[in-house]
Amino acid sequence: MKRFLVAIAVMLSLAGFSFGQAGDINIIPKPRFLELGPRSFGLTRQTKIHVSSSAYRPHAEFLNDLVYKYYGYRLQLTSRFQKRNSILLAEPPSNHQETPAADAYRLVVDSDSIKILGQPEGLFYGLRTLAQLLPMVKGSEIRIPGVSISDSPRFPYRGMHLDVARHFQPVEFVKKYIDLMAQYKFNYFHWHLTDDQGWRIEIKKYPRLTEVGSKRPETHLGAYTTTFRGDGIPHGGFYTQEQIKEVVRYAKKRYITVIPEIELPGHASAALAAYPQFGCKKDYQYKVQQTWGTFKEIFCPTDETFKFLEDVLTETIALFPDSPYIHIGGDEVLKDHWKESVFVQDLKKRENLKDEHEVQSYFIRRIERFLNSKGKKMIGWDEILDGGLAPNATVMSWRGMKGGIAAARAKHYVIMSPTDFSYFDYRQGSDAAKEPVGQSAFLPLEKVYSFDPMPKELSADEAKLILGGQGNVWTEYMKTPEAVEYMVFPRMLAMAEAVWSLPENRDYTDFRRRLDHHLARLDKVGVKYRKPD
Ligand code: ACM
Repeated sequence: MKRFLVAIAVMLSLAGFSFGQAGDINIIPKPRFLELGPRSFGLTRQTKIHVSSSAYRPHAEFLNDLVYKYYGYRLQLTSRFQKRNSILLAEPPSNHQETPAADAYRLVVDSDSIKILGQPEGLFYGLRTLAQLLPMVKGSEIRIPGVSISDSPRFPYRGMHLDVARHFQPVEFVKKYIDLMAQYKFNYFHWHLTDDQGWRIEIKKYPRLTEVGSKRPETHLGAYTTTFRGDGIPHGGFYTQEQIKEVVRYAKKRYITVIPEIELPGHASAALAAYPQFGCKKDYQYKVQQTWGTFKEIFCPTDETFKFLEDVLTETIALFPDSPYIHIGGDEVLKDHWKESVFVQDLKKRENLKDEHEVQSYFIRRIERFLNSKGKKMIGWDEILDGGLAPNATVMSWRGMKGGIAAARAKHYVIMSPTDFSYFDYRQGSDAAKEPVGQSAFLPLEKVYSFDPMPKELSADEAKLILGGQGNVWTEYMKTPEAVEYMVFPRMLAMAEAVWSLPENRDYTDFRRRLDHHLARLDKVGVKYRKPD
């Protein structure tokens, strides 16, 4: 009897009937709506791709690159849609009542065809889902399970951050990181380019920023201690403007916007080592920092400093033409040098600023006015709330969710990246002795998965201001791409689902089951992830 059933199953399977169950479909992030279809599709060398307009040619190329990578051949494009053995990439049908969202897609796989419908961005996400349905085994016919999927993201901002100031990361790795982000439908790459320990973006008008600011003679060895112990190894690196343009182009092809962060007024040691005239201290030994923590070195709010920062931001804006945002940091500003500065104390009187928090607010507002005049929106860490928020600022909430809640109540846009859920420099295992040297805080995979960027206490109108969430990767203790991969994966996949999928579709046990299939895929592309407990 059993043999007979197997024979029937084999026959039906050859006829294209699939025996897929939800258990065979392992899409991350989980789609909004997914139904299994009765018949699978057989991909062969004879399968043809048809695009409904030239806007989808890059998508066809992208799909072909994937098919080539997995199976070693390319599919032909046809000018007419054929009913059998074909893949259709096309715009969604319009029904006059509502235009489908730019980031939504429909994916239908049956025995005759694979259809992906969406506007260009949505269709790209549809391809990312299809990529996860392609089996990673070669054969004359590749079976893709029958499905009907309607999908779109919960949040418009789905970010990953990378600090390249503490440890420089090569362009090739930045591209790999962007590729992996794209696989999981992230759409913003927050590139933390400057900090106390290094300035990593070429600015033509101020060459010393990289000549001096991108290098340090050595770095604190091992876990942080208040007494400095150097490793004796010089560290440096920066991105030329050409390299930055290349990264931005690379990301754009994957529907990822790159947001540069230029830190001010604190985290400025590397810039001030290069141009000490923009600090408040005369005859002071500014240097690129070699250890971790917060530092007193800070930009002085003089007209000369603002001119310098505006020049830096002008060159930065030109390199990131597609980003609506520039991130200006604003976090962890120690104000000692301002308190000790005659210039700043005079400024307070002149501008009627009651304390140094208001000086910080004055600083940030002035920078925001400049960015807005160039057509850019400003993002800052939640400390920019202190002393009064700049009028149009978007707040990135990292010290918990409360800064974001306060900002939304003040009618500002918010991106949530609280330490409790989204700091991937925190260790992943409960036993610190088994983890790499790093931050002492603990952030397991399941906690990341439980992240909900939407605070319950907001009204419906305030909730509309929550743009989404982001995972942050501070690299004090990540010297190499492999070290970054170990800390980021697989937590990035949990974050992907937290920012894309609906809460009612999320379940950690089910995620863990799906994750195992993704780990096998990450193995194939050489990602050195941490094995989940
Ligand atoms: C931060 O972690 N200082 C934004």
